[in-house]
Amino acid sequence: MLSLPIPTSYEFYAELTTAIHLARQAGDLLLDIHRQGPRRIETKNTAVDMLTEADTASQALILETLTTRFPDHSILAEEEGGDQQRSGRALWLVDPLDGTTNFASRFPVFAVSIALWVDGQPVLGVVQDVVRSRTYWTAAGQGAWMATPERLDESRLQTSQTRELNQSLLATGFPYVRATAKDNNLAEFNYLMPRVRGIRRAGAAALDQAWLADGRLDGYWEARLSPWDWAAGVLLMLEAGGVVTDYAGNPWRLGADQMVAANPYLHEKLLAAVQTARREAGF
Ligand code: IPD
Ligand code: CA
Ligand code: CA
Repeated sequence: MLSLPIPTSYEFYAELTTAIHLARQAGDLLLDIHRQGPRRIETKNTAVDMLTEADTASQALILETLTTRFPDHSILAEEEGGDQQRSGRALWLVDPLDGTTNFASRFPVFAVSIALWVDGQPVLGVVQDVVRSRTYWTAAGQGAWMATPERLDESRLQTSQTRELNQSLLATGFPYVRATAKDNNLAEFNYLMPRVRGIRRAGAAALDQAWLADGRLDGYWEARLSPWDWAAGVLLMLEAGGVVTDYAGNPWRLGADQMVAANPYLHEKLLAAVQTARREAGF
């Protein structure tokens, strides 16, 4: 195992090295299936919410190791069998394949996200950008980092310096229920689009958040997120100097599902724009 640029006395060092190793292993598995083209694609609750054999295989790989190494820890992972409650204070949150719609169409933007929260606070997070072989990892109080296959400390992440919305590149996402739900992010999107440099809908929330931490994106907002969509990304963004709140401006917490995140200069402006858009739309 390559060495991490943090003290080995860090309380969750073993958990962190395990999470990095697993995110990379799961990434390799996804990449193999991606290259061949996924064979089995099913739908979940709606026609646009999909499940491929890759989601299932990646989750099985990650959970097998987590349950063996950390038998007292609870796990919340997206796919079937992923809700394993135990009495301890530690909770793993796992998205075995973030960006399933992309993956099913062989659109090369998808990730693995693994995080550990203890007593409702994030202690570590790993997002694997599978196609580019980049590992975004973080530990509470130890900064956020980008790793290549050769180096775990390739660069320390820092959010961007952009100060104005009209100079910003943002990211967002739309929920699977967008055809039936009125509150489906189109009001916010329509309001912001003419006011910013660009808005990307790349299709993998964990990567949007990792790229915000890495200063490639200036802001991000999205609603109806599930815990595994942000469990690692939140700590990456915070440790990189970003600000993460809900749509009311409250600091992010387990259980929240409407996120506004940005560099510290832009967050207030992005939050105000999202709030204005929602007020004007009657939400
Ligand atoms: C989805 C992606 C997408 C976001 C959706 C998520 P999945 O996750 O992160 O970018 O807009 O809200 O559900 O289903 O591909 O793991
Ligand atoms: Ca997923
Ligand atoms: Ca996801």
